Amino acid sequence: MRIPVIAGNWKLYKKTAEALRLVQDLSPLVADVQGVEIILAPSFTVLGPVRSLLNDSPIAIAGQDCFWEEEGAYTGEVSPGMLVDAGCSHVIIGHSERRHYFAETDETVNKKIRAAIQAGLFTIVCIGETLQERERNETFDVLERQIKAGLTDLSDDEMKKVLLAYEPVWAIGTGKTATDEQAQEAHAFIRRLVAECFSDSCADGLRILYGGSVKPDNIRSLMSQPDVDGALVGGASLTAESFAAIIHYQK
Ligand code: 13P
Repeated sequence: MRIPVIAGNWKLYKKTAEALRLVQDLSPLVADVQGVEIILAPSFTVLGPVRSLLNDSPIAIAGQDCFWEEEGAYTGEVSPGMLVDAGCSHVIIGHSERRHYFAETDETVNKKIRAAIQAGLFTIVCIGETLQERERNETFDVLERQIKAGLTDLSDDEMKKVLLAYEPVWAIGTGKTATDEQAQEAHAFIRRLVAECFSDSCADGLRILYGGSVKPDNIRSLMSQPDVDGALVGGASLTAESFAAIIHYQK
């Protein structure tokens, strides 16, 4: 039995006052939720204030990225240990926006995952094909490359700290969600590949989140797919009502 995960990626939105208001509005709306892990990924500058406000709430917080070195002369970077220090239990690695705009590669993704796990963080590793790649029927090749290269040298034990997020690039911020069948097909492929590369038990326990235009009106049917274990939500996580509605998908 895999515990479902609903994570909100705030991307480059929300300064302190807005971030705190969102958390204040969201907290009472989800106070009664059980059996769903809730994660918020604010920007680095508001991690501390958000953490303080959440106090002893079960809502977890995540960094949106981290560097692979713990300290050193790396101006502008944030280390895994700094995220832990700020109260994070999770970090997102390899988001397609980082791959696209900031030259993230499967190799840097791998280094970051290993460093994050070393620091004790759960890593939400993002993978997914572009529209061109899907149209050229390369979806599974892309996923295979991203998984094999991204997860190189991880042990089964380290894989317990990994969650995968399938985020087809063409579905991010476009309002075009993958169909339930497209999501299930990709997730089942990912789980089979993890079973091959690691073990059956590793694949069985792995949470695979779907991301890309998840909204209150499509979450339920996505979550009803056998291999969809959660969602990584962008735009719809920026207002308390829509994110709470997504978290309450079972209702
Ligand atoms: P949207 O939900 O805005 O499409 O963003 C998805 C995403 O990139 C989450 O990481």
